[in-house]
This record gives sequence, structure tokens and C-alpha cells, in this order.
Amino acid sequence: MTTATPAANATPEIKQDRILIIDYGSQYSQLIARRVREAGVFCEMYPYDIDTARIEAFGAKGVILSGGPESVHDENGPKINQALFDLEVPILGICYGMQAMADHFGGKVHASDVHEFGAATIEVTGSCQLLEGVEDSKDGNSRLNVWMSHGDKVIEAPEGFEVVASTPSCPIAVMANEDKKYYGLQFHPEVTHTLQGQVLLSRFVHQVCGCSGDWTPDNIIDMRVAQLKEQIGDKQVLLGLSGGVDSSVVAAILHKAIGDQLTCVFVDNGLLRLHEGDQVMQVFAENMGVKVIRVDAEERFLTALAGESDPEKKRKIIGKTFIDVFADAARDVSEGSDGKPVEFLAQGTIYPDVIESAKSHQGKAHVIKSHHNVGGLPDDLAFALVEPLRDLFKDEVRKLGITLGLPAKMINRHPFPGPGLGVRILGEVKKEYADILRQADAIFMQELERSGWYEKTAQAFAVFQPIKSVGVVGDGRRYAWVIALRAVETVDFMTARFAHLPFDLIETVSNRIMNEIAEVSRVTYDVSSKPPATIEWE
Ligand code: XMP
Repeated sequence: MTTATPAANATPEIKQDRILIIDYGSQYSQLIARRVREAGVFCEMYPYDIDTARIEAFGAKGVILSGGPESVHDENGPKINQALFDLEVPILGICYGMQAMADHFGGKVHASDVHEFGAATIEVTGSCQLLEGVEDSKDGNSRLNVWMSHGDKVIEAPEGFEVVASTPSCPIAVMANEDKKYYGLQFHPEVTHTLQGQVLLSRFVHQVCGCSGDWTPDNIIDMRVAQLKEQIGDKQVLLGLSGGVDSSVVAAILHKAIGDQLTCVFVDNGLLRLHEGDQVMQVFAENMGVKVIRVDAEERFLTALAGESDPEKKRKIIGKTFIDVFADAARDVSEGSDGKPVEFLAQGTIYPDVIESAKSHQGKAHVIKSHHNVGGLPDDLAFALVEPLRDLFKDEVRKLGITLGLPAKMINRHPFPGPGLGVRILGEVKKEYADILRQADAIFMQELERSGWYEKTAQAFAVFQPIKSVGVVGDGRRYAWVIALRAVETVDFMTARFAHLPFDLIETVSNRIMNEIAEVSRVTYDVSSKPPATIEWE
């Protein structure tokens, strides 16, 4: 369960070296933050119209200005807040960030409708601290292979800036003001197509800004544990554990910080995958000694869902029932702790949720992912929130999970939606259907794992079709249900391509499903991409 509210982080902050990223709306902005984190430096990204007071309070050792879709010549194009320069720290402007910086200091930006997009080789003609030793010098030439994506470009560097690199079509590919440590790059160092991009960003945060590389899983865990102890004291914390990556890592880190003051509630809603509940109990309760209450709520969910076939109504029913079950569990926990109330509710909110919900006040920033959480939390929530992963990316959460000793299999699992099999059984949900789907899904997963395709797909699952089809088994006729297989490749889950699984693999899965599950007479493979289809069928 995650939340998208851009509320202030309830967790007390520890100040480590930090970089402030200002987002002007480029599709690559999030990547900048991930690359800086990969360089071992903490950073946070804010929309370009972030308040001056927050800029000052952030404590940045350096600032990165992202790219963006606007032109500095647009009347309403976002400008750079002077407060960023008043910080007197190094600043790196990327693409739009460079143009806005040039414009700010009186340089000239050429407006163009022609887009330069793709690989380019830039010639390093000058020197600056940022580029020292960064160029691809295999053949002794000072060249960098970079990725360009821009329309406008800087054609006259402002006073105090020198041109340090260029391409034939972009005479000012890099500009530098060594005194101030202000740098502008017309290309995108954050994308992997810029071969030395990571080295360059790493040089900026370490050598230019002087940040230490203290953002490592071990350090993050130590810092988080200290923060959680301070925030929670001797109070009780409740966590809805789903078996997914985020809530699992929250459970592990909270257990490390506060031990038995944490109670996890695992709700078996009858819409889980095969043996899922047992696996969660085994990992957390048996192996790690975490206090987990398993609530068997299958009947409650299935009764609530009976007769309903509208996808949105089903989602709402599942969400509401989940909250009701959870509230009951919270009461039980507090009664079981000598009436000591549960004061904190832990959640697995992660950083992309926060970034996407904290969009610009003026609505210029990037497209927003639609969050579909299980029902959401009631507005009158009686708990304070604990969100220890609130500033972490998914890959960081995974690394933390491994460092905390969670099984790799659990950490690298495909995502599973909150409403579970409820959105994979089309139309009305029945126990009979859920049982068939669980078996089919398990066969599909086994074969994906056996063939090495599980890790090559971002998400894969089976879907139950409430239609019957004729088949022939031996000499007999079988009139039974249809199962669809779905497998997709995607990075962000906002767009996805159906996975090009080998036909042999699909054939094995299909044969096994029809042979091992008597209630299925036909298997289909979903070849829809997103958009226009979505990943889940409902
Ligand atoms: P769609 O179907 O919108 O799904 O293409 C995109 C991703 O989100 C997951 N998903 C959900 N996750 N609660 C969740 O926690 C939900 O209600 C929900 N609906 C979809 C889906 O599995 C995919 O990874």
C-alpha cells in the first residue's frame, strides 16, 4: 500500500551531503536523481517553482538543473530562482537548465523548432574541473560520445563563462564558469547513451561539489534505524504486509529498529497467488522472528464481492474490505498490548510516488502516473505515518532488502496489484475461479523461472476468462474455462510492450495448464501493448 500525498516527511532528517535537483519537466529528470544516488550521494528533486525557503533549508552542496520541454523565449517558460545562485554552491545545468542559466546571466539562446535528437560526438576544446579526465581518450582525441535531445541551444555564452566543448551543429555543447563552478551541458549525461555520463555526474557531485559517497545500503540502514528509533520511541507500530517488495523491506528495517514494537498484519483475502500466505509467514514469522498476524479474510472478501462484475466497483469493494479488516486487526493488536494504542502506521511509500505527486504548482512538470492503491487510507486516520522508504528509488529499496537479509526471490519478484487476483478474474469473482487461476498462474511462473524468462520480463501472470470453450481430451469432450497469459516488458509500467516469449515456452505452459487443470480447455497469449491496453485486464 503506498500513498501519493506530498506531505512533509514525518521521519526526522539526518543531514548528509546532499544535492538539490530542480526539475524543469524533462522526461529524463528522474534519471538524474537515480544517477546521483548511484554515485553514492543523497539527492532530492523538486519542481522548478519550489519555495525559496525550502531551497535555503535544503542544505545543498550542489544544484543540478534538469532539462525541460519549454523554451526560455516562451513568456511563461520557467525561470531560474535567483535563490539557487545565492546558495553559492556549484550548479550544473543540463539542456534546458543550461539554456535557462545562460539566459539568466545575459547569454543568448537561439530558438529553434528543429529538434536535434540522438547520438553526437563532442570535441572538448577547453578545460574545466568538470571534464578533467572524462573524455573518451582511446585514440588520444578529446571527444565525448553524448546523447542530445534539444531544440533551442545557447549561441553566446554569458560573461564569465567559457566554451569548453562543441559539435559542428552545436557550437556551445559545454560551457563553464570556473570561478563560480557553474557548468552547462547541452547534452544529457543522465542517459546511458552518453557513455561517460555517469563519470561526469559523479565528478560533479564528488570532485566539484565535494560530497562524500556516504549513500550506501549499509549507511542508509544505519541512518534509517537511528531515525526510526528516535521517531517511534517505545510506541507500537502496525504495518500491512503484502509480501511485495516495498512492504517487505519496511517490515525488515522496522524490525531491526524496534523489534517487537512492530506488528505486521498479513491479510489473506482469498485473492493471493498460490502458497503466497505461507511464504510470507515463513520468511517473516519463522525466519526473521517478526510479529505477524495472519488474518484469514477470504470469506469476508468473497462475500463482499459476490454478484459484482464491474471492475471499478470490485476495486472499491476490495479496498474498503481491506481497510475494515485492517482496522479490526489494529484494535486487536492494541488490546493484545495491554490496551496500549497503536500510534503509528507504517507504509511502503517510495520516492517515485512522492515525486509524481509533488508536481509543479503550475502544472508544467511531467506526466503523472495514476496510482491505484488499495482503497487508500481514510482521511480521518487515527495514526501517524512511518514511511522509511519515502526517499528511496525501487532499485535502492531492493538493495536495502538484500542487505537486510531478505531472500533475493522475494526482492526480485514481479509487482502484484493490491486487489490481487480480483482484477485478474474478469467479471464476478468466485472461489472456484480463484483456485483455477492460482494453479494456472503457478504453472506459468514455474516455466518462466525454469526458462530464465522470469527475470527478462517485468511482469507476467495468468488471467481467468469467465467464458467456456470446447476442447477434446482423449476421446471425450471438454467444455471448460479459458486462461489468458500476459507477460510484459517495461521499465516504468506506464507503457509496456507484450513480451516476445519463445513459442516453445508458451506451448509448454499452455500444454501443462490444459493437462494439469481439468477445468481449463483453452489457453491464449495476450499480444496487447500498453497503450492502448493496460497491463492488468481490469
Ligand atoms: P495497469 O493495469 O494500469 O498497471 O497498466 C500498471 C501497474 O500497476 C499495477 N496495478 C496496481 N497496483 N494496486 C496496486 O498496488 C492496484 O490497484 C493496481 N492496479 C494495477 C499493475 O499490476 C502494473 O504493475
